[in-house]
Amino acid sequence: MQRFRIEGGKSLCGVVDIQGAKNSILPIMAATLVADGECVIENCPDISDTHTALEILRTLGALVKHRGNTVTVDCRNVLDYEIPDALMRKMRSSVIFLGALLSRHGKAVISFPGGCELGPRPIDLHLSALEKMGVTIREEFGCLFCNGTVLEGCEIPLAFPSVGATENIMLAAVRAKGTTVITNAAKEPEIEDLQNFLNEMGANICGAGTGTVVIRGVNGLTGCTHRVIPDRIVTATYLCAVAATRGNALLRGTCPQHNRALVSVLRQCGCELEEQGDLLRIACDNLLAARRIRTMPYPGFPTDAQAPFMGLMCVAKGSTVFVETIFENRYKHIAELQRMGAHITPEGRVAVVEGVRRLHGAPVQATDLRGGAALMIAALAADGITEISDIYHIDRGYERPEQVLSQLGASILRVEH
Ligand code: EPZ
Repeated sequence: MQRFRIEGGKSLCGVVDIQGAKNSILPIMAATLVADGECVIENCPDISDTHTALEILRTLGALVKHRGNTVTVDCRNVLDYEIPDALMRKMRSSVIFLGALLSRHGKAVISFPGGCELGPRPIDLHLSALEKMGVTIREEFGCLFCNGTVLEGCEIPLAFPSVGATENIMLAAVRAKGTTVITNAAKEPEIEDLQNFLNEMGANICGAGTGTVVIRGVNGLTGCTHRVIPDRIVTATYLCAVAATRGNALLRGTCPQHNRALVSVLRQCGCELEEQGDLLRIACDNLLAARRIRTMPYPGFPTDAQAPFMGLMCVAKGSTVFVETIFENRYKHIAELQRMGAHITPEGRVAVVEGVRRLHGAPVQATDLRGGAALMIAALAADGITEISDIYHIDRGYERPEQVLSQLGASILRVEH
């Protein structure tokens, strides 16, 4: 198993390029299933979740070529509609293939994604929406057998602005009969990226990012070429890493407006941030606590930035009260941060972080993708050596983090154990 070995205490300075968005590339990969042509996807992040999504497409019969950060997918010969359980278990977000498989085949078989590191990960909003569109769903032996030869457009008010449910409905509706209107839809930038990708294929979708998405069903969809938006959570993570080490760095290839909530909080914490086009510069020499952070659907403070930002607040002056409103159990990183000397008191969805002058290195374990990022940030700021195990979690969403951080002057090695 691999680990990261980090010697903390070095200020991160220099220039880093931000990868394409993991949470865009996954629904976009699913969307290639509805194209009657070859799709070329640029700025594709080289992370394990991308590889899993490509493995699912190959298993279904797609032709896939992967060269650096450009992926070519041709689904014209895809006849299969069942995703093997082993692949579903590798990545919970594989449920996003459901809508696209129904759109293409009128049927789909996936295993129930089940609970995961962030607490129960229900898909009731996905399933009830698809049933409204005429899909019959039978659950047996932990699998979902879905059938919907004719998908009917309809009004779908979402009880919660679920990102995945919004994306699944868009993918099921894109070739449905009539018009589908999703209200209380998720507004995340990745929804807009998916809308743009589908429209580049000839779909007729509008409203992504506004909370009301209108999808008019069309017949033929062609292949297209698309560049994936920057990863706003990777951007957030490296901003926190630079701030935690009192560094000064320039992030290139970002989309500053996708990070408004975090940038505003970092400024309140005493960081200097400058935006210019796709450049984001951060400098920090005196870090104050944010006092109160409440995760919210976009454009609020992103739940995916909660753990990395908590890693930063562990070494800020003062206390910060975190309220995690999106997921039930997204504090597993706290116990690992406490092993490094962090003063954190969790209570249900609330966690109070009292900043300390210095953390100390320790052997810690990544509990999930963003929890692992929090540990990297804490380790970079800590005195001494930290070894992070189970870094396969981090590799799901971060492209070679040890290279990115070394480029900024960090002392970090990926070691085999
Ligand atoms: C997406 O997950 C992201 N993943 C998550 O990023 C992100 O944290 C989340 O959106 C919220 O922004 C991808 O895009 C691949 P949701 P998703 O449906 O779609 C409840 C990361 O670290 N819910 O918006 O699964 C659910 O339990 C990952 O990159 C239902 O109750 O999130 C949760 O409490 C982690 N029923 C809340 O809604 C449903 O049918 C948000 O879920 C669906 C969701």
